[in-house]
Amino acid sequence: MKTKDGKSIRNNLQCTFSRRDFIKYSSVAAAAAAMPGFVTGCATFKPRQDCLTQLAFAETRHRDLVFASAKIGSIDVRNHILRSATTLGLAETNGRPKKELTDAYVELCEGGVGAIITGALGVQKNGRLGTSYTFLFHHDDYIPDYRSVTDRVHAYNTPIIAQIGHGGRQTRRAVTGEATVAPSPITDPYYNEETPRELTELEIREVIQNFIDTIVRSQKAGFDGVQLHAAHGYLLSGFLSPATNQRTDQWGGSTENRFRIIREIFLGARKKVGDYPILIKISAYDHQSDGLRVPESVQIAAMLEEAGCDAIEVSCGIGADGFSTIRVPEIPSEAVLAYSFRYKDSNPIVKTLLPVFAPLIVNRHEPLFNYNVCAAQEIKKQVSIPVIVVGGIRTLPDIEQIIGNRMADFVAMGRPFIIEPDIVNRFKEESQTASSCINCGYCLLAIEAGGTKCFYGEIS
Ligand SMILES: Cc1cc2nc3c(=O)[nH]c(=O)nc-3n(C[C@H](O)[C@H](O)[C@H](O)COP(=O)(O)O)c2cc1C
Repeated sequence: MKTKDGKSIRNNLQCTFSRRDFIKYSSVAAAAAAMPGFVTGCATFKPRQDCLTQLAFAETRHRDLVFASAKIGSIDVRNHILRSATTLGLAETNGRPKKELTDAYVELCEGGVGAIITGALGVQKNGRLGTSYTFLFHHDDYIPDYRSVTDRVHAYNTPIIAQIGHGGRQTRRAVTGEATVAPSPITDPYYNEETPRELTELEIREVIQNFIDTIVRSQKAGFDGVQLHAAHGYLLSGFLSPATNQRTDQWGGSTENRFRIIREIFLGARKKVGDYPILIKISAYDHQSDGLRVPESVQIAAMLEEAGCDAIEVSCGIGADGFSTIRVPEIPSEAVLAYSFRYKDSNPIVKTLLPVFAPLIVNRHEPLFNYNVCAAQEIKKQVSIPVIVVGGIRTLPDIEQIIGNRMADFVAMGRPFIIEPDIVNRFKEESQTASSCINCGYCLLAIEAGGTKCFYGEIS
């Protein structure tokens, strides 16, 4: 069965969750349930995960290495466990940080984190990521707000890195008030809630300039470095992936062309900020048909190093694909109904059907743990700059093996720091060797309702 642009409905149904009208497809879901093999036959790409056996069987311990200080560019990192960018929904509606954000960061500092990477800060207003509770850093007026955050964090001798991004095709008109923009429009109506408008050449130049200006601003605000958000289907990630970048001009086509926007940001920023640390987060594979794969990401990593990147954080997936980036053992239908802007006000029929059919048609990606380690290892073989890996990292023994066996230079975690901001100290003291996070994913969905927290699998 095909959509009007020829894409397989089967693929769409299983690989995206962002459909405007869930109920429309419930009959297809019922058919799926009746056809063995339909659901398991998802055509999405899964990378090799063979390297994970190294974690399971290795017996060497590398504890000292994990807790030793290290460098990322010129940043002195306290240890090898970083807080990955995690938006906590603690921004005012104008995108300025709330006081509670600083309090949350202080908890992380006291808890022993190696360095904090902030949740994404939008480089322009119409590129604001996700919800009205995410940050903006599009104007110099915001420098004092972020300066007070960095000053507080530095009092704990902890580095803080600003993640900066543009939401691209995953922005929402309801949040930005403007049409969604992307490298090129994908007309598949199931792919995203709004069909994006293609960026013009002039707009691409503006985006590049906005990234450069925000890097300059970040330096002025006292951040120890910045991280470009080029993962999870947001704008820069959209340019990198052949699934979402179908341009035929200098910004699309070859790897070199799809990488061009990022190269221009690096080149432009270096002229302004010298060797100020600029990191990047990428989705090394995006699960999309004809999307980004690990071997191409390895090439992109080499291009990044050549362009002057200081470190690469390896993630995967795109936000619109539901739970590929942030994996869950089961689809959190209860939280979707409670918090998701798409479903929380839906009619009673949808509310009844969603929990029944969502587990059948929404892709639940596996493995649940350490899922980007093998991709990070491939990238690490290619570059000499530090490689950071994030995604389902939960235990001290796994971290010891990842770092000790040089599968990555640093690990980063998201959800474990929400439930236990002092997880690094707990690991160091060995009072705990595994995070208590149950990966329910409720924290992610709750961003849409404001400040998030650990729900531990229950709506409260
Ligand atoms: C509540 C929440 C907010 C997040 N916000 C961001 C973000 O702003 N930028 C980003 O790159 N990733 C974000 N992520 C993804 C995490 O950085 C991380 O890649 C993902 O959660 C997988 O790691 P984990 O299994 O340790 O949670 C977020 C994740 C969660 C749960």
